[in-house]
Amino acid sequence: MKSIKDIDIEDKSVFIRVDFNVPLDDHQNITDDSRIRAVLSTLKYALDYNAKIIVASHMGRPKGKVVPKMSLAPVAKRLGRLLEKKVFFANDCVGPEIKARVNRMKSGDILLLENLRFHPEEEKNDDTFAKELAELCDVYINDAFAVSHRINASVVGITKFVPIKGAGFLLQSELNYFKRALTDPQRPLVAIVGGSKVSSKISALENMLHHVDKFIIGGAMANTFLHSAGYHMGKSKVEMDLVKVAVSIMKKAAEKGIKFYLPFDVVVANRCEARATIRVVPVQEIPGDWMVLDIGPATSLLYSEVIYDVKTIIWNGPMGVFEMDAFSRGTIAMVQSVANSYALSIVGGGDTDVAIHKSGEADRITYISTGGGAFFYLLEGKTLPAVAALNP
Ligand code: 3PG
Repeated sequence: MKSIKDIDIEDKSVFIRVDFNVPLDDHQNITDDSRIRAVLSTLKYALDYNAKIIVASHMGRPKGKVVPKMSLAPVAKRLGRLLEKKVFFANDCVGPEIKARVNRMKSGDILLLENLRFHPEEEKNDDTFAKELAELCDVYINDAFAVSHRINASVVGITKFVPIKGAGFLLQSELNYFKRALTDPQRPLVAIVGGSKVSSKISALENMLHHVDKFIIGGAMANTFLHSAGYHMGKSKVEMDLVKVAVSIMKKAAEKGIKFYLPFDVVVANRCEARATIRVVPVQEIPGDWMVLDIGPATSLLYSEVIYDVKTIIWNGPMGVFEMDAFSRGTIAMVQSVANSYALSIVGGGDTDVAIHKSGEADRITYISTGGGAFFYLLEGKTLPAVAALNP
């Protein structure tokens, strides 16, 4: 896979696929612009080489229709402010008018195209649509790590029609950090896995069994493991159909000498509501009609000790229902432990980044991935289709 640096982009039309799928509030204000900031270095590099920069992205899931509140227009403004430069905005991404607009571009111009997903062909990886996008440029650069697990026209199909193609700096960093974390780590390596379901994480857990030295488990998925280990989980969410899978994962971990940590105290409540009555109990004493909604303080301390000793940390998924303050302490404590550790720490997916930003510790984490689904795809040991498509 070539880097943008290996390609002559001087004065060329360069199509840069980014992921500007950023959260907006009801007034179309961008509430988190990390994904925009993350590609500034690629865009600045292209500007320094006087390229004609065509930037394209999706936003949300408009299902192939024009949905005005999923327009990228607010992003053009924010990008302009961040680059301190006028960013032109096109109200579509294909068609004769867009082609003509691109032909009028001067070196050093930046044009952001409208949401690719306003066309159903984008998600169908349609060849005609991909070719139309390809015809806008001389060089194709993918800097959209967060959507590189999707077989979409702007990240996969287009690569068939642009012979000169490569990766932007963000895509390269994401892949490099991931490699340093999981495939070529400094040991010991711990995987912290939380979130709500074992079912959505089976393949990632199975894959990580080949790489990690320790597992730390939290979130509702820990319930299924605790149930499998013989604890009564009260009204907690337990995936009964996955009990055998949970047992098999723990067995394989034991056979490989992987330390497998489960909570031993938990925060329970009589209902999953912000104002519910809460208690902290050992896992042996979960009341029959209560549910587990966070790891307990003693578990947080133990997990912090486990982390202290490792050289690499990879983290996906919160330790509890962190959106509600009453059940956020386990996740916040984990953020602090990871931030305080001396390890290389990589975090991605499952809203873990949201928890880190909420705790104000983002600067003390080595790398926060911009990808949710894409990061998870890597955890499952798969090759991202859009990355494979960049290979010559
Ligand atoms: C994301 O937010 O994870 C990416 O932008 C991909 O979005 P998608 O899940 O709608 O394909």
